[in-house]
Amino acid sequence: MERLLTTTDGSHTLFSERFGQAYHSAHGALTESRRVYLELGFEYVAGQNPPVRVLEMGFGTGLNALLTWMEAEKRGLPVQYTALEAYPIGLEDVAVLNYDQVLKSNRLRALHEAAWGEDVSLSEWFTLRKMATTLEEFCADGERGSPVEEVDVIYFDAFGPRTQPELWTAEIFTALAKRLRSGGVLTTYSSKGSVRRALKQAGFTVEKHRGPPGKLEVVRAIKR
Ligand SMILES: C[S@@+](CC[C@H](N)C(=O)[O-])C[C@H]1O[C@@H](n2cnc3c(N)ncnc32)[C@H](O)[C@@H]1O
Repeated sequence: MERLLTTTDGSHTLFSERFGQAYHSAHGALTESRRVYLELGFEYVAGQNPPVRVLEMGFGTGLNALLTWMEAEKRGLPVQYTALEAYPIGLEDVAVLNYDQVLKSNRLRALHEAAWGEDVSLSEWFTLRKMATTLEEFCADGERGSPVEEVDVIYFDAFGPRTQPELWTAEIFTALAKRLRSGGVLTTYSSKGSVRRALKQAGFTVEKHRGPPGKLEVVRAIKR
């Protein structure tokens, strides 16, 4: 079982012993997810052609998926959500997370109980496909010529570039760019110089935006 932490906005996060890092910002897990992934990512593409196709790197606690599902319901907007996760958390961890209470929802368990490796229609508006794979393997599959499905937005939510430098590279971002439609975006919480340079090398136009509390700037990278 992972260690449970309460962040400044009252929402929980987990601490990963494997990676020695929390899943979210200590300054507010919910606030961070809303700002980086919903406002800068999802909302940017939501006005365009439905369905909105989301690819998340790092399903983790399911918080980004939960917020996206709720937004899909609120807008009556179909969403196809694909999430990669190499080290899924257990249902005993899910049971203690307070996201449903904080968001007045009842969906977190369904997200975690959904079968892996197939499309699961969780409502009229939200279809989830969880993939039990590493990001590296997922990217290599595309490079090997497996059919690549395009998405509109990528939530890049790996552990930090100091913890997982092998994931924040121009090679990985180039492989991900191939899965984004032109005009689609990748958003992430790290605006480190090396991350921005790797994104530019992969052909993205990189924008810096105001971050959530505790983070001056975050990134939205647009595929030209
Ligand atoms: C910062 S946490 C993600 C937080 C998550 N989006 C949430 O809302 O809880 C990073 C996640 O990436 C997963 N992960 C780490 N390395 C990975 C890899 N190489 N491939 C796929 N998933 C990975 C971790 O298990 C963890 O769940």
